[in-house]
Amino acid sequence: MTTSSSSSSASHNAPHSALPRIAVLATGGTIAGSAQDATSTAGYQAGVVGVGQLLAAVPALSTLANIHAEQVASIDSKDMSLALWTTLAQRVNKLLASDDIDGIVITHGTDTLEETAYLLHLTVKSAKPVVLTAAMRPSSALSADGPLNLLNAVSVAAHRAAHGQGVLVAFNNRIHSARDVVKTSTFAVDAFQSPEVGALGWVQDGRVEFQRRVVRPHTTATEFAIEATANDAWPAVEIVTSYAGVTRVMVDALVKDGVRGIVVAGTGNGSIHVSLQQGLADAVAQGIAVVRASRVGSGHVMHNGAASDDALGFVSANALNAYKARVLLMLALAAGNPARAALQDVFDLY
Ligand code: SIN
Repeated sequence: MTTSSSSSSASHNAPHSALPRIAVLATGGTIAGSAQDATSTAGYQAGVVGVGQLLAAVPALSTLANIHAEQVASIDSKDMSLALWTTLAQRVNKLLASDDIDGIVITHGTDTLEETAYLLHLTVKSAKPVVLTAAMRPSSALSADGPLNLLNAVSVAAHRAAHGQGVLVAFNNRIHSARDVVKTSTFAVDAFQSPEVGALGWVQDGRVEFQRRVVRPHTTATEFAIEATANDAWPAVEIVTSYAGVTRVMVDALVKDGVRGIVVAGTGNGSIHVSLQQGLADAVAQGIAVVRASRVGSGHVMHNGAASDDALGFVSANALNAYKARVLLMLALAAGNPARAALQDVFDLY
């Protein structure tokens, strides 16, 4: 295993030439969290345990892969930033371009994991496996879930069948596509689900099985490049929610602030309270892209054409939740300034 951070690099054991070479990029999260005592699974600090310690807790990794480890960040993922997204995606692309790396595992906090995973799904430029994993219990907890999730993630990243499947999430023995997966529980160890379509497959005791393949374009087949967002060029896109009694105050404030896009987490099939809807229609008239998603948590948002979307200038988010729709909208706006019909095509495709 080799470990490195921005300041240091060290070799810990002799590499086994027959094993796949997997880079483990650590970013923090509960998987790297620590509490005062082993019975505490909620009162802990995320992102305080280094990547070397995470790997040392799983000696069996050395039978699966030659590990190259890097500490990219040490954050609670609630604080994920656009700048760190750029750094992480660029690092992933650089490592995967090397003949010395066969796949990547990223350890991450669970809170924004689905957003980072989808961002990478659209911007990684390689067919080599990229697998995110995390934990619901800190590393110090009784029955911590991180070590097994890490072992399983490396098993998936080292497996031929994971090639060309886009970015994957290995969690609680399941393998999910970055596009489909969402966090669905605040505390349970089976927190990640793909509510609409189910998991892609499973991993257990080193065995990796895919039951279906990813059909929508991703990674090398997208028009998106992380370089378009470098140097703080991320277009400002925010999210508003529709609910009983909502007003247009927040939309008007966002328009005044100069956002380029707004995603609305609507009720049901992306329906929007009449007050909010008028604010959003006025935003469209000022050249702001408005995308309708749903706050429901599963299902897709149908484009309702002439009845509403075409008349008001809205784009429907298909099966993306509001957080993933925001990622796609930012990338689409960074790649150019697509007209509404072209933006709808982007949401129907990805
Ligand atoms: C985080 O997202 O960094 C904290 C929560 C977690 O990883 O479960």
